[in-house]
Amino acid sequence: MEQVSRVLEGTFDGEEVTIRGWVFRTRSSGSLAFVTVRDSSGVIQTVASKKEMDPEEFDALKKVLVESSLEVTGRVNPDERAPGGRELHVSSVRVVHSAETFPITKDKSEEYLLDVRHLWLRSREMTSTLKLRSTVIGALRQYYLDNGYYESQGPMLVSGQVEGGSTLFEVPYYERKVFLTQSSQLYLEALIYSLERVFTLAPSFRAEKSRTRRHLTEYWHFEIETAWVGNDGMMDIEEETIRYVARKCLEERRDELEVMGRDLDAIRAVDEPFPRMRYDEAVETMQANGASVEWGDDFGYEEEKALTRDTLVPIFIHHFPKDLKAFYHRPDPEEGDRVLNHDLIAPVVGEIIGGGERIWELPVLLQRIEDEGLDMEAYQWYIDLRRFGSVPHSGYGMGVDRVVQWIGGISHIKWALPFPRDMRRIYP
Ligand code: 4AD
Ligand code: MG
Repeated sequence: MEQVSRVLEGTFDGEEVTIRGWVFRTRSSGSLAFVTVRDSSGVIQTVASKKEMDPEEFDALKKVLVESSLEVTGRVNPDERAPGGRELHVSSVRVVHSAETFPITKDKSEEYLLDVRHLWLRSREMTSTLKLRSTVIGALRQYYLDNGYYESQGPMLVSGQVEGGSTLFEVPYYERKVFLTQSSQLYLEALIYSLERVFTLAPSFRAEKSRTRRHLTEYWHFEIETAWVGNDGMMDIEEETIRYVARKCLEERRDELEVMGRDLDAIRAVDEPFPRMRYDEAVETMQANGASVEWGDDFGYEEEKALTRDTLVPIFIHHFPKDLKAFYHRPDPEEGDRVLNHDLIAPVVGEIIGGGERIWELPVLLQRIEDEGLDMEAYQWYIDLRRFGSVPHSGYGMGVDRVVQWIGGISHIKWALPFPRDMRRIYP
């Protein structure tokens, strides 16, 4: 059994091979049938002639509908006119499953393609995206394992909020209510005392009420936490990570990016240093680029788009006003109303990473929890971490789906993962 991509490389020219896969397109005229077959690696044209094979097998092949599964044996013929430069001259066929009429035809609406997402995953567009996504996730793991990090996990069912109460999903839990986690960060913080450098890849849940091109209710969150590192050091790590991941995609996924119609220069731009600007400068740049934003506002999609209007390189924004950010961000000891945090803003998509230094001094943390009116009881374990050998530490959380969206140049986040969840959609 050979993979289609290997056959197209030319290794088997003139030889007989067997491939298996799914019917991509069919066309026949009289005693000839032209069936293109796809497997996970590629698409190849086959040519069958009734005279040169078992007539019953030929008839079965001629009748077969798109997406039927089959096994085809034939000789590999180099042919410049064939897509991919080769075709398979069929000697025998075994139809494994004769498909019903496939419901997806050309020009279906986006809504319909979401309804039949379990079938639309087979499209060239989705297959390319899924491969790109696999490379992004593989590269993230590789980068951190190579740099002395350990992979670990936090729980998905939690008793306290991480990122503010407005986007919490409540779950009945025996006699009480608990939440689906918004981030594994607080748990990763507990893990640095044994591992020092730790990362996790897990879903995070946000009851987002806004419907935008970049919000899911369940998204894939890549998070790291690192002992002995400050806000600037964390930005260095993120910049290197993004560069590593983007380069890997360029190396391994060029064909897929082409199918997706991506401008590769937009990805190559990561070779440049990422500008770092204070919140204040970011507001000014946004204003200059036409966004109606005032000092003290939080940023949404429109503001972030304005910030990156004239660049292909992602931009860091640091030193946000304390009031805009979650309780755990460490206030800058030299500037109490600012926190030692940052967001990384990618062109078009906007925020792909949020991170920074965590409060590691006990009195400061107690004060912030009180200021925010949070339930002290729920955070006792987190507070404990500042009682027994507390250390300076930083981390970040990356929206993996958004990174795939940005690298792939995908218009809406729901096309960046196999089974998207949003306010309305929970099927399939
Ligand atoms: O900025 P956020 O809310 O930060 C945190 O959750 C921190 N606790 C992370 C950490 O420091 N460990 O979320 C982090 C990232 C965002 O920058 C964004 O890329 C992504 O998660 N994100 C979403 N992606 C898709 N859909 C949503 N609803 C998202 N909300 C956040
Ligand atoms: Mg954020």
